[in-house]
Amino acid sequence: MHARDHWQLNPRIDFLNHGSFGACPKIVLQKQHDLIRSLEQDPIAYLAPERDLEPKLDEVRNKIATLVNASATDIAFVRNATDGVNAVLSSIPLQPGEEILITNHGYNACNNAAQFAAQRTGARVTMADVPFPLTTQQAVLDALDSQISPQTRLILVDHVTSPTGLIFPVEEIISMAHARNICVLVDGAHAPGMLQLDLSRMKPDFYTGNHHKWLCGPKTSGFLYVQPELQHQVRPNVISHSANRPRPKRSRFISEFDWTGTYDPSPLLAVPAALDFMRNLYPGGLVELLETNRQKALLARRILCDALAMEPPSPDCMIGSLVTIPIDADQFCRRGETGAPAETLQKILRWDHQFELPVFAFEGKDPHCLRVSMQAYNETSQVARLARILLSLKR
Ligand SMILES: Cc1ncc(COP(=O)(O)O)c(C=O)c1O
Repeated sequence: MHARDHWQLNPRIDFLNHGSFGACPKIVLQKQHDLIRSLEQDPIAYLAPERDLEPKLDEVRNKIATLVNASATDIAFVRNATDGVNAVLSSIPLQPGEEILITNHGYNACNNAAQFAAQRTGARVTMADVPFPLTTQQAVLDALDSQISPQTRLILVDHVTSPTGLIFPVEEIISMAHARNICVLVDGAHAPGMLQLDLSRMKPDFYTGNHHKWLCGPKTSGFLYVQPELQHQVRPNVISHSANRPRPKRSRFISEFDWTGTYDPSPLLAVPAALDFMRNLYPGGLVELLETNRQKALLARRILCDALAMEPPSPDCMIGSLVTIPIDADQFCRRGETGAPAETLQKILRWDHQFELPVFAFEGKDPHCLRVSMQAYNETSQVARLARILLSLKR
């Protein structure tokens, strides 16, 4: 059986966009359906926190805590990384004039959340301009360093950047920030299942990640780590029962995030099935899967860069399973096309050549970018075909 047969992706499309929303294997979806069936057989027993739900959530919590090397008492659940980022930004006390430092590689939705938190509190958002292409990780540290001021209170930074697919040196960013008494919120939306995470070593103040991207869990499940001394500050985006009804032997932090009103816990409870599935794909477990995806991503980048006669836009050490290539999209669109070049090229690739992958204008301007994801079901031959099609389109 080929790895792709474990997924139900449309076989007529070369799906090179795992990074956007992930894709869930059949066996994990089956597990989720089984969980929903059990829930609907006895909704009260299943969902009432004091009956079955809490122990089930704790089992998942323990597995995620082990995966990211953190204490389970520091891990709450969120629906997604956007939810996790918003919870932190809307909770932490910001004073007028204080600054939240973000980067130009940050995910738009989360940078918007920073803007909103600043508007509500009279704080300000400042932006570090990290170059792309770039030749060293140090460029990230330098860009952030140049924007840190005595007013900087919090840095919001992607672990793996959304548009440019770069692994940012978060451990060094955190050390630099802590040396100046600044907190760091890491948006690790892509990290679980792409990188080996060690939060005990990294020491972020806040770290959020998705289970539904590279871990291949069902959609709407993620975690939020908060270091113990800050947990009293962080509240979920929805305030519910646990605000005034403490649960025995559970912190308010855990119990508030455990219940934010009626929800479907099946995506979360199916995460162990996703973990088992991913671990069993290769004899070397998750470590081998991550390394294989990384090697496939580096090879994909090499194939595309060779075809387009360009140098890779970042050092190899900044690459996980996601690669972004700068491209002048205009050169690949037919003469007379009227739409925006990036959008037009994406549509040509999708509708004329059956590729699903994002082509976009990074920061709304040139160079345009093309982003390729390499998950277990992807093959180098798909990227080789993409390179041939791009060459055939080039004017
Ligand atoms: C860095 C980053 N943060 C947050 C998100 C949003 O993820 P979600 O929609 O699951 O919250 C993404 C999505 O691609 C992302 O790349």
